[in-house]
Amino acid sequence: MLNFKHDIPTKLYFGEGQIKKLASSLERFGKNVLFVYGGGSIKKTGLYDEVIKILKENNFNVTECDGVEPNPRITTVERGVNLCKKHNIDVVLAVGGGSTIDCAKAIAVGRYYEGDDLWEMVKTSWHLAKALPLVDILTLSATGSEFDAGGVITNMDTNEKLGAVYTYPSVSICDPTYTFSVSKYQTAAGSADIMSHIFEGYFSRTMDSDLSDGIAETVLKSVMKNCKIALEEPTNYSARANLMADASIACSGIPEYGKKETGWPCHAMEHELSAYYDITHGVGLAILTIRWMRHILNKDVTVTERFVKFARNVMGLEGDDDRTLAFAGIDALESYFKETGIPMTLCELGIDDKHFEAMAAHANVDGYLKDAFVALTNEDIVEIYKACL
Ligand code: NZQ
Ligand code: ZN
Repeated sequence: MLNFKHDIPTKLYFGEGQIKKLASSLERFGKNVLFVYGGGSIKKTGLYDEVIKILKENNFNVTECDGVEPNPRITTVERGVNLCKKHNIDVVLAVGGGSTIDCAKAIAVGRYYEGDDLWEMVKTSWHLAKALPLVDILTLSATGSEFDAGGVITNMDTNEKLGAVYTYPSVSICDPTYTFSVSKYQTAAGSADIMSHIFEGYFSRTMDSDLSDGIAETVLKSVMKNCKIALEEPTNYSARANLMADASIACSGIPEYGKKETGWPCHAMEHELSAYYDITHGVGLAILTIRWMRHILNKDVTVTERFVKFARNVMGLEGDDDRTLAFAGIDALESYFKETGIPMTLCELGIDDKHFEAMAAHANVDGYLKDAFVALTNEDIVEIYKACL
């Protein structure tokens, strides 16, 4: 087990009715609130009205930044930063899924960015420290943005989608009932994203971090069980609550404590798909994960042991031949993804091989994925993309 640091300053209020903590969570930062939200789901569910009522009753001055896109754009970050400056904002309130929270994080940091070009900030934000405080209300279980400092911003002009470290939310309000309205497609995609956050750490060369592996395996089993229930019964509180808690833990770094870093290869490859084709993150990940697993298992026999562990402990399979069992675990995972109803090929998303070389070069810039669980070259990545067609 390797050395690690635990440093998550976010306060999570989890469970039905926790919106009662909203006013006090904002109050200590000031009265001027930037209310950031997406394309309108919170208006349909009534959450928008609930939030506005609380803000008005408690005499907050509210400025709205609406229309945050899935795969949030740098242009929306720019709009939000301008609003912060113009209205002397004290605290940012994000209400929505990962895209809304990510965008709000970039706005919170962008408020203090001294340069003119916020895209430059996105490229260099790893080193920025000062940010407006951020409070969020989560409405979709997927990214874990409510419990980490990361954010992913897209520039459609340059076909770039870049992750960076911005700021942790001060407070995240996680009420599973707000996810009752999430569509089957987004429920399945979000669940695939949660699982991918686990896979990216679980498939590591560190074999003796029992706590991390145990957490990882438990989260994977919980997601598969509860996603299926949520797809059948969207208002099943227990299923939605488990998915929400799984999401927060999965991307928090906790399931990777004590483990060798992997560079998160499937995320590196998926961000290229989203940057070029604006696809749903979790769907891209599910498609890639299966092909990446088969590719590295074929390429490097030494990873068989890890895949056998996955097949036995997560997929519940048994068998005497390790190689057969390792591949059977991947097949079982593919069957699970198919059952959730999301597309499992790039062709279904209208994607062909036109940009694969450029995407591979960018995903692997400066040989970034040479330290992955199994080192990936640009050629490997192109092969994986092709296997996804
Ligand atoms: O925009 P609205 O109208 O709110 O609708 C959204 C959107 O269309 C809808 N939705 C959200 N909550 C809903 C709902 N619909 C009905 N009822 C609700 N309660 O769902 C759609 C997708 O929302 P989005 O926020 O885009 O989804 P998600 O949470 O999956 O976020 C995806 C983004 O997060 C990034 C991804 O790359 C992508 O840009 N990621 C962020 C990470 C992080 N911060 O740590 C890590 C992840 O790996 C990921 O890269
Ligand atoms: Zn993800």
